Amino acid sequence: MTGTASPNDGRHCGFGNHFSSEAVPGALPQGRNSPQKPPFGLYAELLSGTAFTAPRHGNQRTWLYRRQPSVRSGPYAPHAHALLKTGARDGVDIPPDPLRWHPVPLPAEPLDFVDGLRTMVLNGDPDAQQGVAVHLYGAGKPMGSRAFVDVDGELLLIPQEGAIRVTTELGVLQAAPGEILLLPRGMLFKVDPAVDGGSVRGYVCENYGAAFRLPELGPIGSNGLANTRDFVAPVAAYDDGPAQPWELIRKFGGALWRAPAAASPFNVVAWHGNLVPYVYDTRRFNTIGSISFDHPDPSIFTVLTSPSDTPGWANCDFVIFPPRWMVAEDTFRPPWYHRNVMSECMGLVHGRFDAKEEGFLPGGLSLHNSMVPHGPDADAFDKASTAELAPRKLDDTLAFMVESRWRLRPTAFALNGGHLDRSYADCWAPLQDNFKVDRP
Ligand code: FE2
Repeated sequence: MTGTASPNDGRHCGFGNHFSSEAVPGALPQGRNSPQKPPFGLYAELLSGTAFTAPRHGNQRTWLYRRQPSVRSGPYAPHAHALLKTGARDGVDIPPDPLRWHPVPLPAEPLDFVDGLRTMVLNGDPDAQQGVAVHLYGAGKPMGSRAFVDVDGELLLIPQEGAIRVTTELGVLQAAPGEILLLPRGMLFKVDPAVDGGSVRGYVCENYGAAFRLPELGPIGSNGLANTRDFVAPVAAYDDGPAQPWELIRKFGGALWRAPAAASPFNVVAWHGNLVPYVYDTRRFNTIGSISFDHPDPSIFTVLTSPSDTPGWANCDFVIFPPRWMVAEDTFRPPWYHRNVMSECMGLVHGRFDAKEEGFLPGGLSLHNSMVPHGPDADAFDKASTAELAPRKLDDTLAFMVESRWRLRPTAFALNGGHLDRSYADCWAPLQDNFKVDRP
């Protein structure tokens, strides 16, 4: 590729910023977006992420200057994928029990990122621009001359094993476990293991709703949680090799479609705009918690939020539980037992989650739907109820939660694919009625 293809060089940073980038000096038109003749014979193309008339503070679009316009592809034909699902319609009815899954192993036959996607839980409807899905990815080989684009939603990639190298229309980013990578709706990309011959796995949050943004900070002030400047965008890079056949896979209305292309779609030589992919290192998250007493609401750990039309009721909150100090006095420090109106899907990147000492494994998943009771398992309860409350560092851990106001439905694969932990509820069985009143 030509351009500064070295990933995450840090020169483009700041969530929501307006960036300009050119892989060849002079390729970016100055003073206007669509000159009669763009430099070097490039085509100008607009990619919008919001309606033209969306309020200025939330308006997102990027201008692309490319060797061939995107319209030079197709026609599209159906592309079969048995395990990639979309919206509530592809979920199954379940009883209101807490659910948990063991890690899903990589397929015996190596698959690329697209073919290796497995949808676990979902809700909403991309045609209504609301809802979210959680998929697992597991890739044992690179995508080669294949590019993917998701029109149904933006994608948040959460690597769990192995670093990924993500080639996008705007340039190349790399993300390792502990980092997350956000891909805008409608932008072409491909995901490859960063190490040749390696395999990778992780989670994908597909957001059909309003684009992820940083949460309001309220009384926290102007700094804290995920800081704006720590989101890194790519710099322009394009394929400069000879034209060779490519395949484009498009997720569009819940179905996959494929089309041939005569040359690489990664042919953007320059661009400017604010609709961009980002990588974010969760180790930069400024974790804030109780320094007096009580376990705070987990909203304090929100990294990104996709609002719905009701203030405070997110279409999707993406929340992390990173390493942190526990110092609260006279407090049961893990999460309390609870039933929430919001639905919670959790994953574990590494380490242990403090409310589940055993059984919730890195690469696994849990689902606690709206009003489904859950909380610390019996072991965690016993330990936390009797522990000496000295300051303690909860280290070597990274869990995350995809929280949605809409009920999440598992897929048939999730329920019947052989990975459901059928003994999950047993972790609460030892909890006893400890009520005792000493009467005179
Ligand atoms: Fe919960």
